[in-house]
Amino acid sequence: MSTPLRTAFRAAFGRDPEVACAAPGRLNLIGEHVDYAGGLCLPLALPQRTVVAAARRDDGRLRLRSLHRDAHPWEGSLEALGPGHPQGWAAYPAGVIWALGHPLGGLDLLVGESVPPGAGLASSAALECAVALAVDTLCWLGLSATSAGRTTLAAACRRAENEVAGVPTGGMDQLASLCCTAGHALLLDCHDQSMRQVPVDLLAAGLTLLVVDTRAPHRNIDGHYAARRRSAEQAAAALGVSSLREASPEQVDSLTDPLLRRRARHVVTEIARVRTVVALLASGRARDIGALLNASHTSLRDDLDVSSPELDCAVDAARAAGALGARMTGGGFGGSALALVERVSTAAVTHVVMTAAARNGHPEPAVHQALPSRGAHLLEPQS
Ligand code: GLA
Repeated sequence: MSTPLRTAFRAAFGRDPEVACAAPGRLNLIGEHVDYAGGLCLPLALPQRTVVAAARRDDGRLRLRSLHRDAHPWEGSLEALGPGHPQGWAAYPAGVIWALGHPLGGLDLLVGESVPPGAGLASSAALECAVALAVDTLCWLGLSATSAGRTTLAAACRRAENEVAGVPTGGMDQLASLCCTAGHALLLDCHDQSMRQVPVDLLAAGLTLLVVDTRAPHRNIDGHYAARRRSAEQAAAALGVSSLREASPEQVDSLTDPLLRRRARHVVTEIARVRTVVALLASGRARDIGALLNASHTSLRDDLDVSSPELDCAVDAARAAGALGARMTGGGFGGSALALVERVSTAAVTHVVMTAAARNGHPEPAVHQALPSRGAHLLEPQS
């Protein structure tokens, strides 16, 4: 545990933490807006992470603090936690404790460094997963020791987000943050919750994956996200299948409502693209996934309508500067794009993306390299 984190915990609570845990943000390579339709996704864990320090209490109280300036302290009784309570950022950590069935008698928790919020890189999931791991460790639940146990923790984190925070997300982010491993993307089958680690060695192929955080504000993302999810459910119901995972392209073409047809077409074509990307990676053809990334963006922009001018600008500029492929990533309506580039052209692509944003009057993007990193883990005493 870093000295600044320990010092901040002492300043906040007047005692030492017992545990510190880190959980990463995620970058979804492909398979966007399909998790809630039983689809396939291929996220990887980012080096950006959220760190929490925690210590147990025995008086039934939960005290939450964050070093993030917008996150106000929150304090309350464990008994009162539940759907809709608390609200704001505290819903995420408190929701995890509720979803795990209140396994402790009280907790002091401090959030230290964090995945940038609003960047579409799953900062909420990173917070939930870091808290879940801290509770797992402090209560000796043993869930984080196995892949099945991590899936259980991820399910609790998702319940926190869906039921306590009231955001109807699909579960990919929590599974990614808890189950990804370094050097791999995680092939998630959201139909049966199975997963497989897929090696991603882009450096060996002379490639780099860039994340472009557009820093554009999300616009009513929750309402738009929920509407996309509803469309997928309505399309499945109209076709008489339990989720769009079971629908064929021909069935989707038969939908009479043009909007539902477009929405559903995104889902079935995106699932097919994930399969192709996985096959290309398995046969050492990482370069060739660029075209699939581009097709994914077109589908998200035109069929699902979840892109934004800033995302389109970043994607177009990256491609114009020679990126092999680029697309928006995450929930959309702002947030981040990714670009697959030749390592030698990293600086040139970055420059062109920044210049295009400035020319269009957009905020200055933050561009990082995405190295597939490890999932949620305990921090050693001195790290
Ligand atoms: C958000 C949600 C995920 C997923 C993505 C889009 O990140 O949390 O569940 O639906 O959007 O792929």
